[in-house]
Amino acid sequence: MERKRVLITGAAGFLGSHLCDRFIKEDYHVIAMDNLITGDLQNIEHLFALENFEFAHHDVSKYVYVPGKLDYILHFASPASPIDYLKIPIQTLKVGSLGTHNLLGLAKNKNARMIIASTSEVYGDPNINPQPEEYWGNVNPVGPRGVYDEAKRFQEAITMAYHTFHGLETRIVRIFNTYGPRMRLNDGRVLPAFIGQALRGEDLTVFGDGSQTRSFCYVDDLVEGIYRLLLSDYAQPVNIGNPDEITIGQFAEEIIKLTGTTQKVIYKELPVDDPKQRQPDITKARALLGWEPKVDRAEGLKITYEYFKSLPAEALVNKEHKDFTTYNR
Ligand SMILES: NC(=O)c1ccc[n+]([C@@H]2O[C@H](COP(=O)([O-])OP(=O)(O)OC[C@H]3O[C@@H](n4cnc5c(N)ncnc54)[C@H](O)[C@@H]3O)[C@@H](O)[C@H]2O)c1
Repeated sequence: MERKRVLITGAAGFLGSHLCDRFIKEDYHVIAMDNLITGDLQNIEHLFALENFEFAHHDVSKYVYVPGKLDYILHFASPASPIDYLKIPIQTLKVGSLGTHNLLGLAKNKNARMIIASTSEVYGDPNINPQPEEYWGNVNPVGPRGVYDEAKRFQEAITMAYHTFHGLETRIVRIFNTYGPRMRLNDGRVLPAFIGQALRGEDLTVFGDGSQTRSFCYVDDLVEGIYRLLLSDYAQPVNIGNPDEITIGQFAEEIIKLTGTTQKVIYKELPVDDPKQRQPDITKARALLGWEPKVDRAEGLKITYEYFKSLPAEALVNKEHKDFTTYNR
């Protein structure tokens, strides 16, 4: 039987690369697309020899051409960490808007089903906790995070418009903080930042008093949720994340215990518009997809720590941005 063909954008990134692995495992033909602005070919180089895998080095904010049929498009290209989107704000806005428009056009042309990677950041600094999909959010469009949050909100809007007006098959996943192997150690997200600081023998930086909360989902759980959502018939947004909420202060203590570091926690000023709380309401995912996370934090953190420890010493050097070592995202 002819293989189904899937286009994955952002394929050389953290989530995109794990999605490539999953679709290869399911025996799809995978077309991986990435402009490598924050991604790394090392994340997918183990797939290059496969006959059902191909890579296209391309910026999806420009016209996207893919020959042949396509069954599914997974649009995961976008800078995703605060360091990245603060460094490249215009590209972030473009990939969420122009990039999404280009890919929706391609999906329409190929009669393919498309899923977009939205985010819990569409809820901004939420006034309710946990956040159900019906909550519309509390976002500052002109704050520093606006470039990411509003790009994602626009991305949802245009995707829904293609669904409503063109009858395109679309899916929207609202991803909450996810972690696992292949994250960049110095991308400013709180988990690799803490582990990086512990491995370098530095104090762990908490922004604010550490009482803000986050919920961390292990990457394998997320990929399973995305896979199920894509194959479902539900076009409204669905939260995928782990509802096990923890304060940043407690999380720093967990990392200290995990890594055995003798360093302490130091506190710095809270960044602008930093969300105070983050916990997914996953009632919908449970009911519609029969999905819930399976990997608890202790287990997922252990795997992730082993991955970071296995990296060459130069990966530990923080060349990215000194003052943003932890943005507590
Ligand atoms: N990781 C999370 O916790 C999380 C949470 C919410 C949403 N998301 C979303 O999931 C997606 C993937 O995030 P990630 O954590 O894997 O980030 P990542 O930075 O590791 O991966 C993003 C990939 O997209 C590529 N890219 C960026 N702009 C591009 C463009 N114009 N054309 C082609 N490729 C481009 C990058 O080079 C990179 O490989 C993003 O859309 C992000 O907003 C992630």
